[in-house]
Amino acid sequence: MELINRPRRLRKTAAIRNMVRETKLTVDDLIHPIFAVEGYEIKSEISSLKDVYHLSVDMLEQEVNEIQNLGINAVLVFGVPAKKDSMGTSAYDADGIVQRAVRAIKAAAPDMCVITDVCMCQYTDHGHCGILNFDEVVDNDMTLEYLTKIAVSHAKAGADIVAPSDMMDGRIAALRSGLDANGYKDTSIMSYAVKYASSFYGPFRAAADSAPGFGDRKTYQMDSHNREEALREAALDVEEGADFLMVKPALSYLDVVREVKDNFNLPLAVYNVSGEYAMIRNAVDTGIMDESVIYEMTMSMKRAGADLIITYFARFLAENYL
Ligand code: PBG
Repeated sequence: MELINRPRRLRKTAAIRNMVRETKLTVDDLIHPIFAVEGYEIKSEISSLKDVYHLSVDMLEQEVNEIQNLGINAVLVFGVPAKKDSMGTSAYDADGIVQRAVRAIKAAAPDMCVITDVCMCQYTDHGHCGILNFDEVVDNDMTLEYLTKIAVSHAKAGADIVAPSDMMDGRIAALRSGLDANGYKDTSIMSYAVKYASSFYGPFRAAADSAPGFGDRKTYQMDSHNREEALREAALDVEEGADFLMVKPALSYLDVVREVKDNFNLPLAVYNVSGEYAMIRNAVDTGIMDESVIYEMTMSMKRAGADLIITYFARFLAENYL
């Protein structure tokens, strides 16, 4: 048999496979999400997200020390406040849950990169990601003022990167000018530039108590059928001064990840969201799939073009695979 091309030669031994491996996943790629709650000595597993915990601020020192010992350098902080109101005022309170969490993390681990989620849905009593106008529609420009206050309060608490996830138009420009005007020129913005309206956020909304009280998020989050719109959203955020871009969710949107990566040269994050986590976690826990599927899934996001991966599997991956 005169076969000239035998691709199997490059798969012959583990050593050769390692030599020709194109994608490498490392701990530097991972961002570990943290859910901070009010109270003391609280570490309670989130029922919709196995192995993920609600942590009170006093418990964060231990959490970040463990994460840091595994080599993970970055956390994304979400707050679950005790009180909500129509204007989401606890979101920009200097002593709000995120602001206190950030201070605690920075005190415990000064070298840890602290990223904060900038949004209003956990803080508003109606559960939408912004301020409602008289027609009960999220008012874009009024919301920008509030998002800016939130981002500035996070920067003041010590956040290295603020990550707006609200999907209002013009929020990157608004945040950049607000941060600069308040002396936070070196605080970066990681834009959830390409964020789809997705049912994959279900377990997160249960964890953060942030489901909309009426309607849905389709007037601000993107329509999942669209690809070109993703490129328009990303282009606007680049123009407005984003330092990082993000595509979210990740697993069902890897085509979009590749396109954003090929079209823009900013560092690109993906968010392997709660529903994607729950799906794989359940399949592994019930023995339907081997746990190596967790590594394979995460690595595939990197292969698709992600530089950074926000994942509830960060600790598991660092402990078992990286
Ligand atoms: C807040 C926010 C959401 C997620 C991250 N930030 C929920 C939403 O937009 O409804 C989802 C994260 C996940 O599902 O893991 N706007």
